[in-house]
Amino acid sequence: MTLAINDLNVPYRLLLGPGPSAVHPRVLRTMSTALVGYLDPEWLSLMDEEQALLRDVFQTKNTLTFPISGTGSAGMETAFCNFVEPGDTVVIGCNGYFSERMCEMARLYGADVKRIEKSWGDVFTQEEVEAALAANKPVKLFALIHAETSTGALQPLEGMGEIAHRHGALLLVDCVTSLSGAPLKIDEWGIDLAFSASQKCLGCPPGLSPFTAGEKAVEILHRRKNRVPNWYLDLTLLEKYWNKERVYHHTPSTTLHYGLREGLRLVLEEGLEDRWVRHRAIAEYLWEKMEALGLKLFIRREHRLPSLTTVCVPDGADDAAVRTRLREAYNIDIAGGFGPLKGKIWRVGLMGFSSRRENVTLLSEALREILDGRK
Ligand SMILES: Cc1ncc(COP(=O)(O)O)c(C=O)c1O
Repeated sequence: MTLAINDLNVPYRLLLGPGPSAVHPRVLRTMSTALVGYLDPEWLSLMDEEQALLRDVFQTKNTLTFPISGTGSAGMETAFCNFVEPGDTVVIGCNGYFSERMCEMARLYGADVKRIEKSWGDVFTQEEVEAALAANKPVKLFALIHAETSTGALQPLEGMGEIAHRHGALLLVDCVTSLSGAPLKIDEWGIDLAFSASQKCLGCPPGLSPFTAGEKAVEILHRRKNRVPNWYLDLTLLEKYWNKERVYHHTPSTTLHYGLREGLRLVLEEGLEDRWVRHRAIAEYLWEKMEALGLKLFIRREHRLPSLTTVCVPDGADDAAVRTRLREAYNIDIAGGFGPLKGKIWRVGLMGFSSRRENVTLLSEALREILDGRK
């Protein structure tokens, strides 16, 4: 039987949703480089370079810093399967969709999960965290989402490491939607564990989850009573490939790593701080444009994410119909809300290569035409 399958013909979309974001052309070009084997000396030195770049972008000196094979959720699962043992108390700040995923994973690995709750879009104060950790002693791990992609809120992290450590807990941070798009200082802020994703502010395709663990966390990992109950994500095995031992674990996607290495080089070429400033400036331009259209923003200004803005769907507008018009008439991709925010917000991502002034101009003009009933 002959299958009549045509050449791949994907329409161009301007990716202004919660991720993936547009991939930088230099990353795409680099990804067409020929493969080498996973123990080729050339490849091994590329691994060292990728780790060094990643440490700079994470602002850390942590030895255990490398990308996990898989998307952001693989990084999240790596944190829970390696650092939780059955019966450990894990406190999780719950204020959006991704903290729910954390709770689910922590439970799967046997944690006694204690939730601290805020409504979607709110953030936690130091006092609230202090009280939650004091009330649940001893706490093994305290987890927060830095950039909650489901709500558009940026959780302040300064001081959280100190509080966690005072209560004997490790601080775990999900920085999937913030790494290189908003200030994040792993060492200075006392963050013990963090994971991100390649497809957001780093401007690469999905498939790798940058991960870092501090010395104290690694010591705890090495003192586990039980084996890590996940073979693929077991850091005690993975670190033997990423450190000087170079013990084969699984075949890495050379192509994705070439891309991430280039994406990280681009971050440092731009300058990490300049990149944070760009993301913020472009987001502010979007906020101004949305307000000029009479639209309200869901998050209070002081807690808004620079990489993802949540815009309230105005009364009388059909959430899904507007997004469909944007896609069909303008090739622009944005997302709606989910959970309690379904039908109430639009999520506009301005991440990495997508974070450009002209994209905001185009989106706001398109929205103006659609909302005026002209398109
Ligand atoms: C804050 C946050 N955490 C975790 C994830 C999960 O990442 P992935 O979809 O790459 O597995 C996402 C995805 O958007 C996210 O925004």
